Amino acid sequence: MSKVKVMFVCLGNICRSPLAHAIFERDVKNAGLSDQILIESSGTGSWHVGHLPDPRMRKEAASHGVEMTHKARHFIAQDLENYDLIFAMDKQNRIDILSLDKEGKHADKVVLFREFQPGAEKGAEVPDPYYGDAEGFTNVYHMVEETSAKVLEYIKENFLNK
Ligand code: 4NP
Repeated sequence: MSKVKVMFVCLGNICRSPLAHAIFERDVKNAGLSDQILIESSGTGSWHVGHLPDPRMRKEAASHGVEMTHKARHFIAQDLENYDLIFAMDKQNRIDILSLDKEGKHADKVVLFREFQPGAEKGAEVPDPYYGDAEGFTNVYHMVEETSAKVLEYIKENFLNK
Protein backbone atom coordinates (compact mmCIF):
# COMPACT_ATOMS: atom_id res chain seq x y z
CA MET A 1 0.00 0.00 0.00
CA SER A 2 1.37 3.43 -0.85
CA LYS A 3 1.70 5.95 1.95
CA VAL A 4 -0.60 8.93 2.46
CA LYS A 5 1.63 11.94 1.77
CA VAL A 6 1.13 14.95 4.02
CA MET A 7 2.82 18.36 3.71
CA PHE A 8 2.74 21.24 6.22
CA VAL A 9 3.49 24.70 4.82
CA CYS A 10 4.18 28.14 6.29
CA LEU A 11 6.19 31.14 5.12
CA GLY A 12 9.72 30.48 6.37
CA ASN A 13 9.54 26.75 7.28
CA ILE A 14 11.42 27.57 10.48
CA CYS A 15 8.59 28.11 13.01
CA ARG A 16 5.03 26.87 12.41
CA SER A 17 5.25 24.17 9.74
CA PRO A 18 8.33 22.38 11.12
CA LEU A 19 6.58 22.37 14.50
CA ALA A 20 3.46 20.79 12.94
CA HIS A 21 5.80 18.37 11.15
CA ALA A 22 7.52 17.30 14.40
CA ILE A 23 4.36 17.04 16.52
CA PHE A 24 2.41 15.20 13.84
CA GLU A 25 5.34 12.83 13.30
CA ARG A 26 5.33 12.05 17.04
CA ASP A 27 1.56 11.46 17.01
CA VAL A 28 1.76 9.21 13.94
CA LYS A 29 4.57 7.22 15.54
CA ASN A 30 2.62 6.85 18.79
CA ALA A 31 -0.36 5.60 16.79
CA GLY A 32 1.84 2.98 15.11
CA LEU A 33 1.14 4.46 11.66
CA SER A 34 4.63 5.59 10.59
CA ASP A 35 4.69 3.02 7.78
CA GLN A 36 1.44 4.41 6.34
CA ILE A 37 1.93 8.19 6.44
CA LEU A 38 4.78 10.19 4.88
CA ILE A 39 5.30 13.62 6.47
CA GLU A 40 7.12 16.69 5.13
CA SER A 41 7.10 20.45 5.62
CA SER A 42 8.20 23.43 3.56
CA GLY A 43 7.98 27.21 3.18
CA THR A 44 6.55 29.43 0.47
CA GLY A 45 9.60 31.67 0.96
CA SER A 46 13.15 30.47 0.36
CA TRP A 47 15.19 32.72 2.71
CA HIS A 48 15.82 30.01 5.29
CA VAL A 49 16.37 26.97 3.05
CA GLY A 50 18.73 24.49 4.75
CA HIS A 51 18.36 26.09 8.19
CA LEU A 52 17.24 24.38 11.37
CA PRO A 53 14.07 25.82 12.94
CA ASP A 54 14.16 29.12 14.83
CA PRO A 55 15.84 28.60 18.27
CA ARG A 56 12.78 30.08 20.03
CA MET A 57 10.51 27.49 18.41
CA ARG A 58 12.94 24.66 19.14
CA LYS A 59 13.19 25.74 22.77
CA GLU A 60 9.41 25.78 23.20
CA ALA A 61 9.06 22.37 21.51
CA ALA A 62 11.91 20.89 23.58
CA SER A 63 10.17 22.01 26.78
CA HIS A 64 7.37 19.60 25.76
CA GLY A 65 9.79 16.81 24.81
CA VAL A 66 9.54 17.45 21.05
CA GLU A 67 12.80 17.64 19.11
CA MET A 68 12.82 19.64 15.86
CA THR A 69 15.50 18.54 13.40
CA HIS A 70 13.96 19.44 10.04
CA LYS A 71 16.01 21.59 7.65
CA ALA A 72 13.94 24.21 5.87
CA ARG A 73 13.01 23.61 2.27
CA HIS A 74 11.06 25.58 -0.33
CA PHE A 75 7.56 24.56 -1.47
CA ILE A 76 7.60 23.89 -5.23
CA ALA A 77 4.87 23.29 -7.84
CA GLN A 78 5.75 19.59 -8.04
CA ASP A 79 4.69 19.24 -4.39
CA LEU A 80 1.11 19.88 -5.51
CA GLU A 81 1.33 16.68 -7.58
CA ASN A 82 3.29 14.62 -5.07
CA TYR A 83 1.33 15.20 -1.86
CA ASP A 84 -2.21 14.05 -1.01
CA LEU A 85 -2.92 16.70 1.63
CA ILE A 86 -1.26 20.10 1.98
CA PHE A 87 -1.87 22.00 5.23
CA ALA A 88 -1.33 25.77 5.03
CA MET A 89 -0.72 27.56 8.33
CA ASP A 90 -2.41 30.78 7.20
CA LYS A 91 -4.54 32.09 4.35
CA GLN A 92 -1.66 33.84 2.62
CA ASN A 93 0.31 30.56 2.61
CA ARG A 94 -2.67 28.93 0.87
CA ILE A 95 -2.87 31.74 -1.70
CA ASP A 96 0.87 31.44 -2.38
CA ILE A 97 0.65 27.65 -2.74
CA LEU A 98 -2.29 27.90 -5.12
CA SER A 99 -0.49 30.51 -7.23
CA LEU A 100 1.69 27.56 -8.35
CA ASP A 101 -1.39 25.51 -9.34
CA LYS A 102 -1.44 26.78 -12.93
CA GLU A 103 -4.19 24.44 -14.13
CA GLY A 104 -6.30 24.85 -10.99
CA LYS A 105 -6.38 21.10 -10.31
CA HIS A 106 -5.34 20.95 -6.68
CA ALA A 107 -7.34 23.51 -4.70
CA ASP A 108 -9.28 20.83 -2.78
CA LYS A 109 -6.20 19.26 -1.20
CA VAL A 110 -4.74 22.58 0.02
CA VAL A 111 -6.50 23.22 3.33
CA LEU A 112 -6.10 25.50 6.33
CA PHE A 113 -4.45 23.48 9.10
CA ARG A 114 -6.12 25.24 12.01
CA GLU A 115 -9.64 24.69 10.72
CA PHE A 116 -9.16 21.18 12.19
CA GLN A 117 -8.69 22.49 15.75
CA PRO A 118 -11.75 21.76 17.91
CA GLY A 119 -13.92 24.87 18.08
CA ALA A 120 -11.94 26.81 15.45
CA GLU A 121 -14.02 28.88 13.06
CA LYS A 122 -13.77 28.71 9.28
CA GLY A 123 -10.66 30.56 8.11
CA ALA A 124 -8.79 30.01 11.41
CA GLU A 125 -5.03 30.52 11.08
CA VAL A 126 -1.87 29.70 13.03
CA PRO A 127 -0.45 33.20 13.66
CA ASP A 128 3.14 33.86 12.63
CA PRO A 129 5.17 34.06 15.88
CA TYR A 130 8.40 35.22 14.21
CA TYR A 131 8.23 38.93 15.08
CA GLY A 132 6.55 38.43 18.47
CA ASP A 133 7.57 37.38 21.99
CA ALA A 134 7.98 34.02 23.73
CA GLU A 135 4.28 33.88 24.58
CA GLY A 136 3.50 33.75 20.86
CA PHE A 137 5.62 30.61 20.49
CA THR A 138 3.91 28.95 23.47
CA ASN A 139 0.52 29.84 22.03
CA VAL A 140 1.46 28.37 18.65
CA TYR A 141 2.75 25.21 20.32
CA HIS A 142 -0.58 24.51 22.03
CA MET A 143 -2.75 25.23 19.01
CA VAL A 144 -0.58 23.06 16.77
CA GLU A 145 -0.61 20.19 19.27
CA GLU A 146 -4.40 20.28 19.59
CA THR A 147 -4.85 20.51 15.84
CA SER A 148 -2.38 17.74 15.03
CA ALA A 149 -4.43 15.18 16.96
CA LYS A 150 -7.53 16.06 14.93
CA VAL A 151 -5.63 16.00 11.65
CA LEU A 152 -4.55 12.46 12.46
CA GLU A 153 -8.16 11.44 13.18
CA TYR A 154 -9.21 12.99 9.88
CA ILE A 155 -6.53 11.10 7.94
CA LYS A 156 -7.32 7.82 9.66
CA GLU A 157 -11.00 8.15 8.78
CA ASN A 158 -10.66 9.51 5.27
CA PHE A 159 -7.45 7.94 3.92
CA LEU A 160 -6.73 4.85 6.00
CA ASN A 161 -10.27 3.50 6.65
CA LYS A 162 -9.66 3.31 10.42
P1 4NP B 1 7.22 30.66 9.80
O1 4NP B 1 7.74 32.05 10.46
O2 4NP B 1 6.53 31.04 8.51
O3 4NP B 1 6.25 30.14 10.82
O4 4NP B 1 8.44 29.80 9.60
C1 4NP B 1 8.54 32.96 9.75
C2 4NP B 1 9.89 32.76 9.69
C3 4NP B 1 10.70 33.68 9.03
C4 4NP B 1 10.13 34.78 8.44
C5 4NP B 1 8.75 34.96 8.51
C6 4NP B 1 7.96 34.05 9.15
N1 4NP B 1 10.96 35.72 7.79
O5 4NP B 1 10.41 36.76 7.36
O6 4NP B 1 12.16 35.52 7.65
